[in-house]
Amino acid sequence: MTARAHDWDASYQSAAPPPWDIGRPQPAFVRLAESGVLAGRVLDAGCGTGEHALLAAARGAEVIGIDLSQRAIWQARRKAAERGVSARFEVADALSLGRHGWAFDTVIDSGLFHVFDDEQRGQYVTSLASVLGPGGNCYLMCFSDREPGVWGPRRVREDELAAAFADGWSTTSITADTFAINPIAGSPVAQAWLATIRRERTRLSGFVMLNALRQTADTQQWTVCSGRLRLPRAGATVATVMCRSSRARCAAWRHRLRIGFAAGFRSAAGTEGPGCGWAVASR
Ligand SMILES: C[S@@+](CC[C@H](N)C(=O)[O-])C[C@H]1O[C@@H](n2cnc3c(N)ncnc32)[C@H](O)[C@@H]1O
Repeated sequence: MTARAHDWDASYQSAAPPPWDIGRPQPAFVRLAESGVLAGRVLDAGCGTGEHALLAAARGAEVIGIDLSQRAIWQARRKAAERGVSARFEVADALSLGRHGWAFDTVIDSGLFHVFDDEQRGQYVTSLASVLGPGGNCYLMCFSDREPGVWGPRRVREDELAAAFADGWSTTSITADTFAINPIAGSPVAQAWLATIRRERTRLSGFVMLNALRQTADTQQWTVCSGRLRLPRAGATVATVMCRSSRARCAAWRHRLRIGFAAGFRSAAGTEGPGCGWAVASR
């Protein structure tokens, strides 16, 4: 377990739940669910004990909740079983989502973005872009600079939030909202920004990075490799796949490729010969 995971795990270990873990979804996400937008294939990034994933799943979405903390994931799985709600919960790092082969239509982030430092923010946004399809929405609520004092997480300014998603995304709205919290210094709420951020459809021409899974002939194990997809124009159906490894190594491995998640694409792929793969992707 990494130090970061260990720290988060500790917050789910104490007798009193952490401030954010209120045993029910945030009112802002209940409103979103009621408006019908938490739909399709949904990722709850930094899901904690799973309230928002379970909220979306109870309304028919196909949900995966991920968190660095094993304890949080155990609690989320237990809640799902107790409530008879079908949602999948996995320990995973939101900074490297691309390695799993997932694709989503919708992302929920309640309280994750604000835990990252400047460098991690960039990694997180790139990581989200690798799994959220074009036109998909990210619903993100983070701590706001309108919250006075210095307790708790780093405060985020509205312009910082918009800037983090400037490239390849469009910010539909950022509105003032509140987190319901287990009371700190007597207050049951903390000031927040609630953002709706959409993955743009228009930047899909050119090269799109994708990840692929490679199966070696001898061990039959799938491992992650990277490739890139040439799209002559937005929405095109085409592509070739190049494995980052040298041809000699690929030939030795006699790998075959399985293209899992050029975000938002339907894809098919196969082996063309030693070291070469093919893929067809369409939107
Ligand atoms: C403030 S809590 C919010 C939890 C949950 N979304 C909620 O509303 O109750 C932030 C969560 O993000 C998780 N987390 C922190 N860094 C993470 C990362 N890199 N990848 C996945 N989860 C992470 C923590 O373990 C914690 O559960």
